[in-house]
Amino acid sequence: MLARPWDTQIDYTAAHNALPTMTVRDLSLFYGEKQALKNVSFDLYPKETLAFIGPSGCGKSTALKCLNRMHDSTRGVRIEGRIEMHGEDIHSADIDPPVHRRKFGWVAQKPNPFTSTIWENVAYPARIHGLTRNRAELADHVERCLREAHLWDEVKDDLHTRGGTSLSGGQQQRLCIARALSTEPEVMLMDEPTGSIDPIATAKVEALMLSLRKTHTVVVITHSMMQARRVANRVAYFHMGELLECGPNAQMFEYAKNDKARAFIAGKFG
Ligand SMILES: Nc1ncnc2c1ncn2[C@@H]1O[C@H](COP(=O)(O)OP(=O)(O)OP(=O)(O)O)[C@@H](O)[C@H]1O
Ligand SMILES: [Mg+2]
Repeated sequence: MLARPWDTQIDYTAAHNALPTMTVRDLSLFYGEKQALKNVSFDLYPKETLAFIGPSGCGKSTALKCLNRMHDSTRGVRIEGRIEMHGEDIHSADIDPPVHRRKFGWVAQKPNPFTSTIWENVAYPARIHGLTRNRAELADHVERCLREAHLWDEVKDDLHTRGGTSLSGGQQQRLCIARALSTEPEVMLMDEPTGSIDPIATAKVEALMLSLRKTHTVVVITHSMMQARRVANRVAYFHMGELLECGPNAQMFEYAKNDKARAFIAGKFG
């Protein structure tokens, strides 16, 4: 019998002795009549990187957006099932959606920095959320975020003179990651963060992702099996709206139990 997604995770929890940051159970999502997610269940643990993989259109982005309630503003979306964050139902009436969303950083496939200065890209989110008390604290905050995003050394002399959009594609993506870190999120959600940048820029973003997983909980969608192999602690395989298997990196890449997951990982389709 196939292990259910959460069976493999229980082993992992025991090994890491941690309660999940998020728990997703029997999550189904409908865009109007069309069902895009079918009874998806998984856990997300503190300071792990979980990769979502699977063929195009299988529901990876849809599932990612459920975690920070990004579907709230999309008309015609219906969600069933339960998502908890630290044991609390994220759809409960007690949850203020903007407060919930602030716990997450979002990184999109295409870098989308503000045209304003490098400094402003990173300072703005901290300022609007009142995370620093004065200019000196803000300066420290901006530097820390840019260092965490592995960008500081490349831009430290241009903070106030260059606009975010004047950077190279790879630098823009790291700036967007610095901007996402600026709100001090607990969980980083990355939807194909290297999908539109070149291999050298990708290597830099992957190095950053490896350091990020020491400090943050990360869910990353990738079409690159090599990338999933390099950056993820665990891997979840989606197929036509279902999460067919989720397990530790080595287990998924070396002996996935599910036939479709095994074929996809071996590059036989998708
Ligand atoms: N806003 C929407 N309205 C209607 N259908 C949608 C919407 N967004 C996505 N879908 C459909 O839901 C299914 C899952 O889409 P989703 O974007 O989650 O897939 P994905 O796994 O992220 O694919 P890709 O790897 O191509 O990014 C697809 O069939 C898609 O066409
Ligand atoms: Mg997608």
